[in-house]
Amino acid sequence: MDEPSHKDLFLQSLNRCTKSEDFIPAFYDRFLASSYEIRDKFRRTDFAQQNKMLLRSLRLIAGATAGDSKSLQELRERTETHNRYHLNIQPRLYDLWRSVIIKTASEFDDQWNDDVETAWNAILGHVIDHMIKYY
Ligand code: HEM
Repeated sequence: MDEPSHKDLFLQSLNRCTKSEDFIPAFYDRFLASSYEIRDKFRRTDFAQQNKMLLRSLRLIAGATAGDSKSLQELRERTETHNRYHLNIQPRLYDLWRSVIIKTASEFDDQWNDDVETAWNAILGHVIDHMIKYY
């Protein structure tokens, strides 16, 4: 049998994480707790909306590595909203974002293992490289 792709491992893990409605809020609690700079970026944010948008986006962009067209479109849109002319998310903030979301996922996914962690790193790494390249 073929090995599951990073996309499949990532999406299955994300589904296990989001069986709990607390997953995305727990991520944002930790992300906001990490610094004043992050809290300041989200000072006007409606988190009920934001939580839904992040989850939708994570599901959509998972296929970007594989070149799936809807994924690429979502990635292009997020790259544009986050670039220096819009939200101005500096490249250095993505490492923190990635480590906080992966740490949170490792606590919510009851089947977390090294392969799952590799898949999260690969999918998010690809997305983040792209966002940074077009910052
Ligand atoms: C690959 C990583 C990321 C993904 C997939 C992502 C996804 C999203 C999505 C879907 C939205 C809502 C739609 C939009 O405005 O574009 C959003 C908004 C936002 N993101 Fe990100 N994001 C990422 C990284 C970051 C990082 C590192 C920061 C750093 C602080 C950040 C800060 C924000 C802010 C401030 C908003 C606007 C919230 C508001 O409307 O008040 N994002 N993000």
